[in-house]
Amino acid sequence: MSDQPFVPLCVPSLSGNESRYLQQGLDSTFVSSVGPFVDQFEQQFAQFVGSRHAVACSSGTAALHVAMRLLDVGPGDEVLVPTLTFIASANPIAYERATPVFIDAEPRTWNLDCPAIIDEILRRAAAGIKQPKAVEIVHILGHPADMAELLDVCDAHGVAIIEDAAESLGASYRSGPLAGRHVGTIGRVGCFSFNGNKIMTTGGGGMIVTDDESLARRAKHLTTQAKLPGIEYRHDEIGYNYRLTNLAAAMGVAQLEQMPTFLQRKRKIADRYDRALGQLPGITIPPSADWAEPSCWLYTILIDAERFGTDARGLIAQFESEAIQTRPIWQPLHRQPMFCDAPRLGGEVAERLAAEGLSLPCSVDLTPEQQDRVLAVMERLARRSCCQDGDLPAEAA
Ligand SMILES: Cc1ncc(COP(=O)(O)O)c(C=O)c1O
Repeated sequence: MSDQPFVPLCVPSLSGNESRYLQQGLDSTFVSSVGPFVDQFEQQFAQFVGSRHAVACSSGTAALHVAMRLLDVGPGDEVLVPTLTFIASANPIAYERATPVFIDAEPRTWNLDCPAIIDEILRRAAAGIKQPKAVEIVHILGHPADMAELLDVCDAHGVAIIEDAAESLGASYRSGPLAGRHVGTIGRVGCFSFNGNKIMTTGGGGMIVTDDESLARRAKHLTTQAKLPGIEYRHDEIGYNYRLTNLAAAMGVAQLEQMPTFLQRKRKIADRYDRALGQLPGITIPPSADWAEPSCWLYTILIDAERFGTDARGLIAQFESEAIQTRPIWQPLHRQPMFCDAPRLGGEVAERLAAEGLSLPCSVDLTPEQQDRVLAVMERLARRSCCQDGDLPAEAA
């Protein structure tokens, strides 16, 4: 075991105004779910992503659950969702007793295969089969999904789009029909997470964004127990206690102030990894489509199992012995026991990516020295596993 200091995978950077605003929140006694920081956070977040409305809530999962309710997803409905994502993308579909239909990943961005969704919607239209209620576009690991062509098809066939942008705050489209737009702002409802491992955090929290004022009003209503105005406890539907506290929002305001710096650092870390790892045999660096402006949230490479003699999981212990935290990506959701009987379109690409994907340390505050250590281990492993045929480039050796 290494006696070097531990390098974590992805931890928050909290050196801005977090303590100051938290203290202001404490001093004001507004520690719970109303208070000026909640309003401020919502307004500034909406402005940052370029959405008309933002409604803060207690988690990204809560945001997605409310999104399902906003679009009246219910029993008998289907929602198309990628199989290669975190479980929280699909659970809210199940909360509403609807059926997830799992869509394979596509190799270019690792996001869900939008052309396959277009084919499916057109196939259903031609055969007179009921359309899915919604498509949930998940922008995984900080890279936007290639969704531009899907928009018109969904529109023409009455299929709503929900975006799960939990992992990709700050990612946007560089060119094409969506140029300049942030992920999360394109569908009818977009959802974000501020869990501790995300690019910015409130300790735990989420945000729902929409351009539709009536949806935003209903989102606020649903997240606040569906209570009608006034002092009487009157409620007009089943709601939730999904509010974000004023203290969490205080952190959110402080973190949001630093988002441009966070994005810059994440992209710099990814760039350095790309340059060093891109020349090693048996390693595929993360996708970066020319039309996309990724946020580089979680730096994830693919390990060629044949060359390495092991898949990504086989390397984790080796990093661990050097006090470096790495992590595999998710098991595809169609492999999870709750969802293994759900309908799906393909899944082979997702399974390959799930076997080969390895996330490397990429905290906003990762130092060049820490990154050097990660690179040294990766290069040593590549050399040991891949060099039987002598194909490691001299500059990487
Ligand atoms: C793709 C995706 N969707 C949803 C969530 C749920 O967010 P939260 O943890 O804030 O509930 C997460 C991560 O946590 C996620 O990675």
